[in-house]
Amino acid sequence: MAELARTLPASWYRSLPLYQLERRGVFFKAWYLLGPVTRFHSIDSNVDYEIAQKKLYVRRTAGTSSIPAHDELQVIRESDGAKLPSHVTPTGLLFAAISHEAPAFEEFYPDLEPLLARIDFTELPYRRSIKYNGNFNWKTMVDGYQECLHCQYTHPSFSVYYPPTFYTVYNHLNFSQHVADPKKPDDGLFLYFFPNCTLNVYGGGMSSFRVCPTEDPNVTRMEFDYYHLESGEKFEEYFKFVRQVAIEDFELCEKAQENLQKGVYCEGILNPVKETGVAYYQGRVFDLVMQQYEAEQRNATQPSATDGRENTAGSIGAAIKAVA
Ligand SMILES: [Fe+2]
Repeated sequence: MAELARTLPASWYRSLPLYQLERRGVFFKAWYLLGPVTRFHSIDSNVDYEIAQKKLYVRRTAGTSSIPAHDELQVIRESDGAKLPSHVTPTGLLFAAISHEAPAFEEFYPDLEPLLARIDFTELPYRRSIKYNGNFNWKTMVDGYQECLHCQYTHPSFSVYYPPTFYTVYNHLNFSQHVADPKKPDDGLFLYFFPNCTLNVYGGGMSSFRVCPTEDPNVTRMEFDYYHLESGEKFEEYFKFVRQVAIEDFELCEKAQENLQKGVYCEGILNPVKETGVAYYQGRVFDLVMQQYEAEQRNATQPSATDGRENTAGSIGAAIKAVA
């Protein structure tokens, strides 16, 4: 019998040195969905982001159309005004990296654009954003997003429309597609972008959320952007529905994090059919963290060369050894 995939150990959900290693090994080398280009339609007003303690903003510098062109949008690092790598997909999604250490967009997401081609993401106007902190590690929330075993009991209203019976996750390099019913692949679009962004088209609208780690590995800032054809009552109805699902996930994550912090649970096995999305993304985190750790061990004589290297190799090593 093939060996079952195991979860990351609980220590990885509460260790500051481990999070600093994730910043350097995962977050500085990734791409992020910032939103459909329509999110940035106002000229000369900044839309701010903070990802892994790196502040950046998007600014539209020219144009009058309601749909900004790629060359009218700039992604700028706040600290020095430098341009960051950015990419607009053919159907209108803006992605950016927070560091020049990230590979090219096409290398990071080699098979993403054909999947995005069937939806015009500029059709639904931007309506609202909200953000708030939760007492959980960023991976606690991503764990929940990447499986739907919890959906039937946690999300009774959502499960009426998207019954979890046939729920399937298709993993690609650095993103996953969730399909509620494989016989109806066009009904709803649920995408997870490694490491911490999602896009959810369902219920007549579209939402995108970012799971933003703070400096405390036990606290995460959730950021949501909502889009809908309608304003007024129809939007509020959609908003109420999707907020209910988000609140249910939030409460589940705070409870799960309490258990991760108590020191009783260490690690477990993952369901080989229902939790492949969790196994996939946790495997990416594990591989990238290990690569970063090994690279830093080799270069241990240059302590100030990399941002965030304020933790000793010894304390990082202790967190890594918890996996062994
Ligand atoms: Fe959920």
